[in-house]
Amino acid sequence: MNREEAERFSAELSGTKIDGWELEKPIGSGKTAVVFRARRGDELAALKVYHPELTPDSQTRAELEQRIERQVELSKAPHKHLVAIHGGGRSESTSLYYLVMEFIDAPNLGELVPEFSRDKIRHVIGAVAAAAKHLEENGLAHRDIKPENVCVAPDYGRVVLLDLGVVRPISAEGEVTDQSDVRPFLGTLRYSPPEFLLREETDSMEGWRAVTFYQLGGILHDMIMRRVLFEGHSTPYARLVRAVQDETPKFEGADVESDLLDLARNCLVKDPVLREKLVSWGDFDERPAEEPSTATRLRIRRRIERQAQVQVQASLGADPSGDRRAKQRELEKLTRELDLAICNACASDVECFHPREIRSSSPRSGDDVVTIEVLFPPTSSRTTRTAISVEYRLRLIDFEARAVEVRCAVHYGDHGEWDDAAASGVFLGVFSGESLETALEESLFTALDGAEWIEAPESEN
Ligand SMILES: Nc1ncnc2c1ncn2[C@@H]1O[C@H](COP(=O)(O)OP(=O)(O)O)[C@@H](O)[C@H]1O
Ligand SMILES: [Mg+2]
Repeated sequence: MNREEAERFSAELSGTKIDGWELEKPIGSGKTAVVFRARRGDELAALKVYHPELTPDSQTRAELEQRIERQVELSKAPHKHLVAIHGGGRSESTSLYYLVMEFIDAPNLGELVPEFSRDKIRHVIGAVAAAAKHLEENGLAHRDIKPENVCVAPDYGRVVLLDLGVVRPISAEGEVTDQSDVRPFLGTLRYSPPEFLLREETDSMEGWRAVTFYQLGGILHDMIMRRVLFEGHSTPYARLVRAVQDETPKFEGADVESDLLDLARNCLVKDPVLREKLVSWGDFDERPAEEPSTATRLRIRRRIERQAQVQVQASLGADPSGDRRAKQRELEKLTRELDLAICNACASDVECFHPREIRSSSPRSGDDVVTIEVLFPPTSSRTTRTAISVEYRLRLIDFEARAVEVRCAVHYGDHGEWDDAAASGVFLGVFSGESLETALEESLFTALDGAEWIEAPESEN
């Protein structure tokens, strides 16, 4: 249904009654329906009336009935950030299908994006993710999370995920439960991850979670950048399709905290398997305002925890394009960027991290690993007994996404071989110099802290 059809349909219905509900005022429309503020006696509700073109025959009618039923079922599992569904069905008087929901007196996020407030991003993404997680816990996937399907009250007091029309059950591993909607593309192209676009998503918890994370990344992008995803690639349709498949969204000049940028970049990674590994539900938690150092520590701890869970498989590093030279250049660039991040981290506390030496080894061809070593000789000023070597290994795990894993091993005194089991995670995600610097700084402090110190004698008085 295009805009004109929606306008015509809503003009036709305005002021009429459906099963006792008086349709007072149109409040929105989407691809499938028009939504009205409606009143029955002293009850106020939002009535979603489906366009009859959706149901030309008995099969489509049965499908819509099933979709309405599923939404009504959801009222058994309410959530404060999910729209409450009160009922629905087919009107006896008009034969139209409709859904009765709580009326939310708030614009949708799409309308708010152009002037979205910086300090509300965390709250809104946290609320929408909580609703999506709640659906997952009930064995469901929303599949159409986008700004138009989120209502946000002007004071940001209420955030509600709407449009549960394409919610579907997550099947047991690999089993397809829902034959009828395997082929048609139901979501919205702009916010569809590449695998969903081609209907190549994996019908499992992880597969649908990857779709959800991508769509959450889409709304995060729009709030951060104050414009829609792939704005410059909107027409023609084929151009948008190509952008969804190949274009990496840009975040240049975004004035928000780096962890939000990291989250958006990781969510929008094209490869669903990698995406699901880089993002976790905890990343969307809205944390109370903390001292920056505590927030940093928390973030790093979470990364490290995640790293312990994640075994990034070697297969993720496979390069289907086979373009070794491009990869080699990328690795050289990453070496320089890692080197710069290490220099900046060392410069953050000259007293602690000086004097030192930084040795980088250029990546060997055919290898996806870059190594940089930071050496601290024993000195009287730092009063450590032994030499300390902090060895960083950066591995390119996805060339297209520029996703990297950085691990760190610390040696005191004698320098042993690299032992991956003894190394600890520093960073995992789409490369970001700023976030890496914070994580490197923390790891340098930890390394110094583990050294044997020459204690100064107790002072006499
Ligand atoms: N319960 C509601 N309260 C207030 N506004 C709503 C409600 N449900 C939908 N809307 C508005 O109507 C628009 C279309 O509704 P939606 O359920 O997304 O329809 P569609 O399936 O056609 O996309 C939404 O973008 C939102 O602005
Ligand atoms: Mg909608």
